[in-house]
Amino acid sequence: MRSLQEFIEQNAVMLLIATLITISIGGIVEIVPLFTIETTIERVHGVRPYSPLELAGRDIYVREGCYLCHSQQIRPFRDEVERYGHYSLAAESMYDHPFQWGSERTGPDLARVGGKYSNDWHVAHLNNPRDVVPESVMPPYAFLGTRPLDLDQLAAHMRTNRIVGVPYTDDMIANAKADALAQVDPAADTAGLLRRYPGAATGGVGGRPDEVTERDALIAYLQVLGTMVKFRDIDPDDLRQ
Ligand code: HEC
Repeated sequence: MRSLQEFIEQNAVMLLIATLITISIGGIVEIVPLFTIETTIERVHGVRPYSPLELAGRDIYVREGCYLCHSQQIRPFRDEVERYGHYSLAAESMYDHPFQWGSERTGPDLARVGGKYSNDWHVAHLNNPRDVVPESVMPPYAFLGTRPLDLDQLAAHMRTNRIVGVPYTDDMIANAKADALAQVDPAADTAGLLRRYPGAATGGVGGRPDEVTERDALIAYLQVLGTMVKFRDIDPDDLRQ
């Protein structure tokens, strides 16, 4: 008499059914526990949706493929934490659609590059990286400084993000264009902008209030990276909201 094992091995349909049953058990064990926890991302203080200009800059970052050379994910290893700062928290990219963790580091990780350099440094670096870092292999992106940003797209872009769960309010969407202009104009009244987006870089991101360029947006985005959670002021036990 044939053993059960021989029977299954020699019968393609039975083998398929047995395989499916085995895989389903593995799947259930992995997936079901996730239904019992409230959320897989712990919320932390300070994380807010991107300002309209930062959001547009993020789009340019994706369009230009910056992620092909730069990751945005500091792993919890000593060498990374000493070089880049506190390891990345899942909540820090909770409003990223899609997230920019990346897997390639031809250049340094950018998860906490915000505030590391001045806006002027970024202008010079994007125009020609070798002007500020002689050995750099990063390509120049000078053309971004001559391309006007399409301000009429901002509100639609925010509405789309709202559909996938980013909590943009009607007030934020109605002020999309005004907030973008306030962020690039050094003379602008930024009270509304800062109420809606605490900590947004102000004082003229790109320095030319008469025209908002794609470079202004990209710099606004780079300057906010990793700055939303104030690790220095917070006791690690207080991070949970
Ligand atoms: C071919 C790979 C490559 C691409 C593509 C690339 N970079 Fe870089 N980037 C580098 C390298 C290498 C460095 C380190 C040398 C330097 O500072 O220029 C760097 C450095 C940087 C820095 C400074 C980081 C630090 O902590 O000093 C920033 C900011 C930056 N890149 C932004 C960008 C942005 C924005 C884009 C897309 C528009 C981009 N990079 C595309 C390779 C790349």
